[in-house]
Amino acid sequence: MKKYIIGNWKTVLSPKQSEKLAIALGKKFKQKIKTGREVVICPSYLDIANVASIIKPTKINLGAQGFFSGNYQAITGSVSVLALKELGCKYVILGHSEARLAYKLDDMQINHQIRLAAEQGLIPILCIGEDQETRASNQKEMFIKNQLVKGLTNIRLRDNDKLIIAYEPIWAISPNGPAQLDEITRMHTLIRRLLLEILPANRLNKNVAIVYGGSVDANNIKEIMGSAAVDGVLIGKASTDFDSFSSIINY
Ligand code: 13P
Repeated sequence: MKKYIIGNWKTVLSPKQSEKLAIALGKKFKQKIKTGREVVICPSYLDIANVASIIKPTKINLGAQGFFSGNYQAITGSVSVLALKELGCKYVILGHSEARLAYKLDDMQINHQIRLAAEQGLIPILCIGEDQETRASNQKEMFIKNQLVKGLTNIRLRDNDKLIIAYEPIWAISPNGPAQLDEITRMHTLIRRLLLEILPANRLNKNVAIVYGGSVDANNIKEIMGSAAVDGVLIGKASTDFDSFSSIINY
C-alpha cells in the first residue's frame, strides 16, 4: 500500500501565501516524489481553484476540506461536491473534529457526505478521534467504534474505490501532541480490527488506508511512518511551511 502524506492547510494561509507555497511545492515535486508515496494538499475553499491549476502538471494531488451535503441545491455561502470534482479534486477531508464542532455535524451527516463524495468519485478521508476526556475514560473504544459504524453506514467499496480513515485524536492536534508511537500503533490496530466488523476483509486490506494526524512534523515523521500500522499522515501546521512540508514529503 502507498504511504499517504496529506497536507490540510485549514484556513491558515492567505490566497497569496497559498499560491506561493503551491508554486514552490509544484516546482520541487514536479516529477520527483519518492516511489510509493501519495502526496495531497488540501487548500482552503477560496484558494482551491488557483492551487488546482498550479499543481495540475505536478505529482502533487488535490484534496478539499469538505463540502456542503446538499450538492444539487443552491446554498448561499457553501461549496458543492460537483464543483470540487470539476476542479480535479481527488480527495476530500470529511468529519474533521474542527468541522464537526464548528458546523455541528453529526455522524449521520458525515456519512451522507462520504456517500456523496464516493458517488462523485472522490476519495473520502474520514477523520475520527477522541478528546482528552474520552481518552481518560474507559469509553475510548466505544467512541471510536461509534464514529466508524455510523460514519460508514451503507458504504460499499467497489473494486477500485478507496477510503482513508484518519485517526486524529483531538488532544494531539497542535499546539498539543503528538501522540506517542505506541499509542498510535495501538489505536490503528484497534481501528483495523473494528473495520473488519464493518467492511469485508479483502476490501479492508486493498482499499482502505489508516493515517494518523496530530502534530506530525519534520522531526517525528520518520518514527511515525515507521509503524507498520500507519499508512500515512494528515498534517496541519507543518504542511503550511515549504521547508517543513518538503522535508516531510522526502522523509
Ligand atoms: P496539526 O498537524 O497542526 O496538529 O493538525 C492536525 C490536523 O488537524 C490535520 O487535519
